[in-house]
Amino acid sequence: MSKTAMPPQSDALVLFGATGDLAAKKIYPALYDMTVRGALRIPVVGVARDPMDCETLIQRVRQSVQTRANFNETHFATLAGLLRYVGGDYKTADTYTRLRHTLGNARHPLHYLAIPPAMFSVVVEGLGAAACTRDARVIVEKPFGRDLHSAQALSKTLESVFDEHAVFRIDHYLGKEPVQNLLYFRFANSFMEPIWRRGRVKSVQITMAEAFGIGSRGAFYEEVGALRDVVQNHLLQVVGILAMDPPENDSTSAMHAAKIAVLRSARPLSPADVVRGQYIGYRDEPGVATQSQVETYVAVRLFLDSTRWAGVPFYIRAGKRLPLTATEVVVQLSDPVPNLFPDLDGIGNYVRFRLGPDRVAIALGARVKSPGEKLVGEDVELFVCNERDDEADAYERLISDAMKGDHTLFALREGVEASWRVIEPLIDTALPVLPYAPGSWGPEEADHLLDDGTRWYAPRVTL
Ligand code: BG6
Repeated sequence: MSKTAMPPQSDALVLFGATGDLAAKKIYPALYDMTVRGALRIPVVGVARDPMDCETLIQRVRQSVQTRANFNETHFATLAGLLRYVGGDYKTADTYTRLRHTLGNARHPLHYLAIPPAMFSVVVEGLGAAACTRDARVIVEKPFGRDLHSAQALSKTLESVFDEHAVFRIDHYLGKEPVQNLLYFRFANSFMEPIWRRGRVKSVQITMAEAFGIGSRGAFYEEVGALRDVVQNHLLQVVGILAMDPPENDSTSAMHAAKIAVLRSARPLSPADVVRGQYIGYRDEPGVATQSQVETYVAVRLFLDSTRWAGVPFYIRAGKRLPLTATEVVVQLSDPVPNLFPDLDGIGNYVRFRLGPDRVAIALGARVKSPGEKLVGEDVELFVCNERDDEADAYERLISDAMKGDHTLFALREGVEASWRVIEPLIDTALPVLPYAPGSWGPEEADHLLDDGTRWYAPRVTL
């Protein structure tokens, strides 16, 4: 194929992990929405271990989409008409032979590995041996590997059967509207660039709080923990976008290069930069070991060794069973020089990006004078929020992009490896896991990661 030729559109979607949690919660709703928009017209082959028939799969898909506001039977019938099912052990060659048969005339299938990371290589090898990889693409879910070494090994396995341009390392945060807006807002507004650097920024905080626990995902979560589940991928990708130098142009490769440079500049975390926690009751969840040392909360202090960010702490925390569900970035700006009106002890000037749930919201924290004779002020927010609710969800967008062969919103191998390098020193280091009460903000020890005078900024319940 010449460099400029567009790769052909995928002509079948194969979903490994068709009975799993991710498929039910995110992938089927995305496929349903694609059907509603008329953007899904190819066969969707579910693959899983359960020896069930296609009708059972259709019922499962119905369960995961029937409460959607846009649900109707006509659209559902269209989606159901596209579904096929192949049940079988991922380790058995026969499973892939039957898959090949079910794919029929499809020449460019897109394989989606929505399965536990330990099974990625097994499935890739099975697909390769059954000639299901020729002219195919593959989406690999996160976490991509368990550490740097296994990520490199997985890339090698993929390389043995797929071209690199056929591999899509998915990180659904990159497909989120608010995350793309972060990039847009930074580089579309000239007032941003002069202040977006050391000297002007005091610190950066990223909080990913979730009010719910691990639910039915105990077995998966025991393999990953918060650091591998959301920090190595989602939150470091956010750091990459937040901190990148202006890309040379708006091409995909320039954007990727700028983001990867940030991840490469990140100093590997040392144990002193990390606090791990586990919510009380986690060990009673199904699939969780009674003495589990897996963290459901993690807070880290990260530094970027770059001219732009040297010395500016990036505080990142993520946890389950916290007081609310919200992901926010708060970039705290330095105090004015001279500070003529130090009358307030609030957070002062900052830029706040709400990344979820729901709407995009951006706020500038400012101080204004309170009416009256004295020069005293109050904290206010200049706030803007996107009221539209018809945007494609991240999974919908990313699956459509992968079907077209567009890598723009996917993580690249170099970036994934750079983020593993950041957390590498913590892997296999026996850091204590501190208990915290469900509904609290995690272990108090996380406060000690912050510089004097800084406190964790809690996202609001509402925007
Ligand atoms: C997933 C993690 O990647 O992201 C989950 O495995 C987490 O543990 C989820 O809950 C959060 O995604 P979102 O889009 O709901 O913020």
